[in-house]
Amino acid sequence: MLNRGLVLGAVAAIAAQSAQAVAVYGQCGGLNWTGSTVCDAGSYCLYSNPYYSQCVPGTASTTATATTSSATTTSTTTTTSASATPTSLRGLHALAKAKGRYFGTATDQLWTNTDTAYLAITGNSSEFGANTPGNQQKWDATEKSRNVFTYTNGDYEVAWAENHSQIARGHTLVWHSQLPSWVSSGGFDNATLISIMENHIANVAGHYKGQVYSWDVVNEPFNEDGTWRTSVFYNTIGPSYVAIALRAARAADPTAKLYLNDYNTDWTGSKSDAMYALAQSLIAQGVPLDGIGFQAHLIVNSFSRTFQANYQRFADLGLDVAITELDIRMTLPTTDALLASQAENYKYVVNACLAVSRCVGITVWDTSDDYSWIPSVFPTQGAALLFDANKKPKPAYYSVADALAAATVKGTWS
Ligand code: G3I
Repeated sequence: MLNRGLVLGAVAAIAAQSAQAVAVYGQCGGLNWTGSTVCDAGSYCLYSNPYYSQCVPGTASTTATATTSSATTTSTTTTTSASATPTSLRGLHALAKAKGRYFGTATDQLWTNTDTAYLAITGNSSEFGANTPGNQQKWDATEKSRNVFTYTNGDYEVAWAENHSQIARGHTLVWHSQLPSWVSSGGFDNATLISIMENHIANVAGHYKGQVYSWDVVNEPFNEDGTWRTSVFYNTIGPSYVAIALRAARAADPTAKLYLNDYNTDWTGSKSDAMYALAQSLIAQGVPLDGIGFQAHLIVNSFSRTFQANYQRFADLGLDVAITELDIRMTLPTTDALLASQAENYKYVVNACLAVSRCVGITVWDTSDDYSWIPSVFPTQGAALLFDANKKPKPAYYSVADALAAATVKGTWS
């Protein structure tokens, strides 16, 4: 059917003949889109929603479906409708950005993903202005064998973010988990393990130098009671492994913000106190540290409501704070009451960040419930994210949007 979007798209395509082609999965149209509307050969510009059109592999004539019926017929045209009005989405990142923050998501294995609805929302920079690769920059992905570095998948995720006008949060350089056994069981002495860790950081953070906004340099260093988590790094090097890692990260990428990141530190308590004491000590030693990440993997109605005061005390040390892996799970099946509680909980968490000027951003740990890590680890739980498995925004989406829109304290992210 010939519609206004199609005509506008054809005009836009002609106007863009000389523009640089957009790589596959890059944005090629949408409300206020000023970039190229031309896709690389072998891909075409697929209309997803008023905010977003995306280059996807194939040709429109063979892959267009009822839901994408406004797709065009050649690989160099677009269906963006400049006159379209926003429907159900509110633009979480756009709202956050107006208040000096970013709103981001995390992704995993994007290169295998053909779920256009998921990709359209996840890559919509009005919704998400930041992207954290969920697994591709971890040690088991980047240095599976000693001194043999692999960046293919990490590069894909970082490039995808960049192609969608999103900053990338690097995740993570030193972690006890997803650590190859050659490191964890290598039996290395102190000096050797330090050099292995420094070499890993120099290579990985060096590879992404200038491409990531921040690094979660050390992930999850503490036990629940605030004692140090035993890991090959702590057991062999002692607590100084954290300072060594931070210094190595700064040397490898002087502009990336360097973070420590942990879970169950959102509220005040032993674990958060331990992180606070560590941050104080690192700052006193002159160790480069820019921020503290609070993962915020939460359970509906099961957390202590001291987030704002807790975030503020870290900010008062002169550090940025960020919510880095937010999700709020529930025991399945979902009910309206649980979804309403979840919406209220999300609003609480987002408001805690928004009340602290140094709280620079919020990242949810993936976009829609069908991509969440939770069911694989907690089989009876899930539905933790802002979009359901049909990519429909949940009540929590709107409560987050409301909170962002109502924020009065300007953040320091730009
Ligand atoms: O890549 C393999 C694939 O080849 C294989 O077919 C498949 C079969 O199970 O497994 C794939 O690896 C999985 C990997 O995610 C990539 O999807 C692992 O089994 C799985 O254990 C791994 O889970 C990740 C988890 O960290 C590991 O601890 C989750 O996706 C990731 O979301 C999660 O993220 C962590 C943060 O990094 C730190 N904070 C907690 C958070 C949630 O656990």
